[in-house]
This record gives sequence, C-alpha cells and structure tokens, in this order.
Amino acid sequence: SFVVTEACVRCKYTDCVEVCPMHCFLEGPEMLVIDADACIDCAMCVPECPVDAIVHESEATPAQAEVVALNARLARAAGWLPITRKKVLAPGPTSTSSS
Ligand code: SF4
Ligand code: F3S
Repeated sequence: SFVVTEACVRCKYTDCVEVCPMHCFLEGPEMLVIDADACIDCAMCVPECPVDAIVHESEATPAQAEVVALNARLARAAGWLPITRKKVLAPGPTSTSSS
C-alpha cells in the first residue's frame, strides 16, 4: 500500500483525501496516515500532495521505515478518524481570496 511520510507532519494539506476512491486516509493531530488494508494501490493520491508526502511502501527509504510502521499503527489508533473532505485552511497573510 501507499503510506504518508514525514513531509505531511504539521502540514496536512489534505488535497489527497478527496481523490481516494477507498477513503483510506485517517487524520491525527499532526498528519494523515493511510489505512493499508483499505488501500488498493491506485496511486491517485500521489500527485495530489503538494509536498510529495505519499510514497509506496516498497519505495520508502530505510530512514522512512519508522513512518511506514507508523501508518500501520496509527491507522488503528483510537482517535484517528477517517477524513474524506479537504480541510479549508484559515487564510494566511499572503493568500488571495479568489473564489
Ligand atoms: Fe487511496 Fe489509491 Fe492513495 Fe491507496 S493509493 S490511499 S487507494 S488514493
Ligand atoms: Fe499530507 Fe500531502 Fe495529504 S501533506 S494531508 S499527504 S496532501
């Protein structure tokens, strides 16, 4: 399955969640994770992430082994709830409001 890596931490763009046909994403306080049991390896989410946080577990670097395990663990953690709609972030000082 695909996994969410450390680039998502304190970032959480959440662009990824709306394209997932399987609703694999779960949200915690600082990042999202993918439920490996639900992921069908479609890779739809990969190009959606602005910081390239999503990688296939087979392509994770040795340094990312921990975050791969974290996805598996946190996908089952209490309090990590499915997220399927992109979050609307509070507008920052540099954001424009073209709607
Ligand atoms: Fe969802 Fe597909 Fe991404 Fe897996 S690879 S998390 S099924 S969008
Ligand atoms: Fe995280 Fe990227 Fe999704 S930053 S929330 S994995 S779009």
